[in-house]
Amino acid sequence: MEFKTIIEPFRIKTVEPIRQTSRAEREHAIRVAHYNPFQLRAEDVLIDLLTDSGTGAMSIYQWAGMMRGDESYAGARSFFAFEQTVHEITGFKHVIPTHQGRAAEHILSQAMVNDGVIVPNNTHFDTTRANIEARRGVALNLPIAEGHQPATLHPFKGNMDLAALERTLREKRGQIPMVMCTVTNNSEGGQPVSMANVRGVSELCKQFGVPFIIDACRFAENAMFIKMREPGYEDQTPMQIAQEMFRLADGCTMSAKKDGMANIGGFLAVNDDALAERCRNSLILTEGFPTYGGLAGYDLEAIAVGLREALSEDYLRYRIRTVEYLSERMTAAGIPTVRPAGGHALYLDAKSWLSHIPQSEYPGWALSVALYTVGGIRACEIGSVMFGKQPDGTEKFSELELVRLAFPRRVYTQSHMDYVCEVLIYLHTVKDKIRGVKIVQQPSALRHFTAKFAPVAESVLSD
Ligand code: F0G
Repeated sequence: MEFKTIIEPFRIKTVEPIRQTSRAEREHAIRVAHYNPFQLRAEDVLIDLLTDSGTGAMSIYQWAGMMRGDESYAGARSFFAFEQTVHEITGFKHVIPTHQGRAAEHILSQAMVNDGVIVPNNTHFDTTRANIEARRGVALNLPIAEGHQPATLHPFKGNMDLAALERTLREKRGQIPMVMCTVTNNSEGGQPVSMANVRGVSELCKQFGVPFIIDACRFAENAMFIKMREPGYEDQTPMQIAQEMFRLADGCTMSAKKDGMANIGGFLAVNDDALAERCRNSLILTEGFPTYGGLAGYDLEAIAVGLREALSEDYLRYRIRTVEYLSERMTAAGIPTVRPAGGHALYLDAKSWLSHIPQSEYPGWALSVALYTVGGIRACEIGSVMFGKQPDGTEKFSELELVRLAFPRRVYTQSHMDYVCEVLIYLHTVKDKIRGVKIVQQPSALRHFTAKFAPVAESVLSD
């Protein structure tokens, strides 16, 4: 007999208590945080779905690995364990550790991007975009049309528009230092990219002589989606699929805080010797010596073990099912979400859910504030607050107004998810009472982290 229930494939050995708060306490906390969930104290949050980045629970094998950490400044044993694992998965010749993903992006941008060049991607994540723009390059998004349609079902909604990429490569010849592809496509709903699409990007890059770099943060989840959805991959392991994908590219940037299953870390890996040398030289200036790159030896060990655990099929099946479960319950309740469910997160479609709030009053942001106020759940707006401010200071509303419920890896159980469903379903019954917000103070870039907001009415939710 084969049983159908997909269980959490772990048992709990250490627990971290979480604290219930009253509605009045939460109203006070969010007011003090200037209605910015990033400014809340984590202890005032009951279920923290702000991000899946660095928030996962490590395994006994990772903790044991940390005790093995070699803290030598140069040539540490832990570096070679890390390098070998990354090499086995990606096949890239040069492995350069960094303290997190954006440091890898920063170093790569310094080496590859300058005034006016164009870097296409399916969809740039905000730090990738910011690093390219900081070098005065243009970060160009080329997702397929379905990527922008929350309700349209497509098995690989994260795909890049290959015709648009070809046109760009042809028309902007000589102005494109690299093409990137983000797997899974976080900013478009955590949607996967098919192997056929990665192959298509790879062939175009070869044809035009442009390096192809994968933003690999969630490569293991992407590999599992390929196994589940792309004909011909059913019998391959996530490891084999990941290996095939990386071999189509010339390098990758990685945040080990995601599918590295670690709390900190990242890397840049490339094949090109001269590029690797340039990157290592700037690494020494900003991150550290090339065999630790801003990390402790024990971090390198945790990542070396974590990268393999992320590719476990039992784990990936549970992970993808968790998000799908929440998605099914939302659909049954009539709550609009990006469908199908993403790998690491469920994205609520705030623009259609709160159609009475104009984009100038940031419906996604308002929904995230309401979610905290009602249920102590912290989520993240991925919409006009995150993407609306242009480098020249003007405001251009984002096509989608999403609220992301991102799941820390191996942290929450099904009853936590049932609670999240209950809160969302309640919010749906009072949705007309949710009001928008305005920005009272903001920095010049990456404003969502620190901007201060105020409700446009008496309060964001008068239920
Ligand atoms: N690329 C993607 C696709 C990401 O999702 C992130 C981070 C990064 C690059 C940067 O990595 O945080 O280690 O510097 N995403 C987190 C998130 C922050 O919440 O989605 P980092």
